[in-house]
Amino acid sequence: MNVDFSLVPKHFAPRTHEKMKDVLMDPDGIGPSVHYYMIRGGVDQKNVTVWEPGTISGEYIKTYGHYHVGQLDETYWILLGEGIVLMQKLALDEHGVMIPDQVEEFKAVKVKAGDSIYMAPGYGHLVANTSTTYLVTADTSPVDFGEADPVSLPGHADYKPVQIMQGFAYYIVEHNGSPALVKNKKYKTIKNEDFGGLDVIDLP
Ligand SMILES: [Fe+2]
Repeated sequence: MNVDFSLVPKHFAPRTHEKMKDVLMDPDGIGPSVHYYMIRGGVDQKNVTVWEPGTISGEYIKTYGHYHVGQLDETYWILLGEGIVLMQKLALDEHGVMIPDQVEEFKAVKVKAGDSIYMAPGYGHLVANTSTTYLVTADTSPVDFGEADPVSLPGHADYKPVQIMQGFAYYIVEHNGSPALVKNKKYKTIKNEDFGGLDVIDLP
């Protein structure tokens, strides 16, 4: 097998607390300096993501969340730990552009080691670690190694609508020792909701 070792530094991308402040329920909360680590292998080697366990002001450590550009889908395999996947599809304006604060469909799915989960085209997605260990996944998302800055966000994904809304339509929080959802009040409308058996709570 021919391995291009010049790509090795580009394979590793840590997602820092500083960057994650954009999308946290409490941007002033205390968290680890790195929330999750990505080893990008692309389709050939798969990508591996490792989440730290823990919460920031009660919110479980999660990925930033993104929408795909174009009709891209992907499958995630859960290798270790357990978590919750959030998927949401935004309403489109008359030009087919996503409206950041209007959700057509929201879905929460509990996953654990051994499971796989399919992210359909058009659905933004994030994954939170609800276990007391690392959460580890592998996925088939294509990676553009041509990007200038290896730590920057991958080119196939659109992070802007998530950044504008300070995260997805719900935050996943620890409540009496188990996960529950808290609504992100910045969203104007959420048409269809499937909470996957999770409670929705109000924070004081
Ligand atoms: Fe993705």
